[in-house]
Amino acid sequence: MNELLEMKEKLNLLKERSLYRNLKVISSEQTSSAVVDGNIKLMLCSNSYLDMSSDKRVKDFVKEIIYTYGTGAGGSRLTTGSYNLHSKLEEILAEMKHTEAALVFNTGYMANVGVISAICDEDYIIFSDELNHASIIDGCRLSKAKTIIYRHNDMVDLEKKLKENTYKKGLIVTDGVFSMDGDIANLPEIIKLSKKYRVLTMVDDAHGTGVLGRHGRGTAEYHGVEGLIDIYMGTLSKAIGSEGGFVCGSRVMIEYLKNSARSFIFSTALSPATIAASLKALEILRVDNRKISDLQENIKYFCHLLNQMGIEVSSESAIIPIIMGDENKALSAAEELLKEGIFVSAIRYPTVEKGKARLRITIMASHSKEELKFAAEKIAAVVSKCEIV
Ligand SMILES: Cc1ncc(COP(=O)(O)O)c(C=O)c1O
Repeated sequence: MNELLEMKEKLNLLKERSLYRNLKVISSEQTSSAVVDGNIKLMLCSNSYLDMSSDKRVKDFVKEIIYTYGTGAGGSRLTTGSYNLHSKLEEILAEMKHTEAALVFNTGYMANVGVISAICDEDYIIFSDELNHASIIDGCRLSKAKTIIYRHNDMVDLEKKLKENTYKKGLIVTDGVFSMDGDIANLPEIIKLSKKYRVLTMVDDAHGTGVLGRHGRGTAEYHGVEGLIDIYMGTLSKAIGSEGGFVCGSRVMIEYLKNSARSFIFSTALSPATIAASLKALEILRVDNRKISDLQENIKYFCHLLNQMGIEVSSESAIIPIIMGDENKALSAAEELLKEGIFVSAIRYPTVEKGKARLRITIMASHSKEELKFAAEKIAAVVSKCEIV
């Protein structure tokens, strides 16, 4: 069939350009190490930053919930899928983000797509950071609004664009922590501009939640601007170690989203077990911030090690990119590291711009100092070898 031939050709083209992706299969728990394609590897690319998914307290609670509530949710949230567990989780999330209410979606992707397309109509202009996550981009595309891209975290460019465009309603949307660069959005300035130009603010704190701020409440806690974001979105799939996305904001907005966000309405709710994992992880974080401080200490330690070894990095989030440029170089470095026992992802186009391929290293609270030292030495050796080639 011609269609299949065409697909094959497209796949071959991706292979030629070092852009082909395949799945690495994990067959163990994902902690600071895991069994990857049959062999144990040090995990240096998991988003489970706090290692909550292997926490015994979380697992015990989930087990109990499965025996009480069963497995699947049985319906969408608006039919039979809303459990008291969902309501409890939403209460806790609203409190965590200092807002009146919250709504849980099945994934972070679905939250962004659902929220932006439900709120922004043709009367809006959306001002979106050029490095925002794909789910924000897709949400903007699905909405009927015009989208204007501003230069990454560049507040002068954002203000210029707010000034030179006319609109009835506007929204500034940004990642809190940028997912492939690990840097942090300038929320205080974004809030100032939103007030000056009378537009809404939306922050995607997928990678800030559980990581930034003394209590892990995210980028707003880090900047001291809690309660000042109109639409505070996040995920439960990263530091919280479970699955799901959420949005926090005013009670009216949350009621509106329940009645209009298509990705919320037309999908079966998350299972009680998944919700229970988030509930327990958040409860642990509320009373004990040791994992957060361990993570923050590990991030500092790892950056320090790499800098000492001549690789310039700096990050306050758990994401530490090493830019390799060429796609093939990034891929070869990741393959070399895997042989050395370290699992790191090579991030390439279209996740990042062409020619900006990178190793995306992520740190976990449960990494030991020895593991981090071992990894830094191997990475420094592999990266310097790649640069010589
Ligand atoms: C910044 C950002 N937003 C949203 C998402 C989507 O979240 P989820 O994986 O829960 O769908 C991700 C993760 O992939 C992300 O990095």
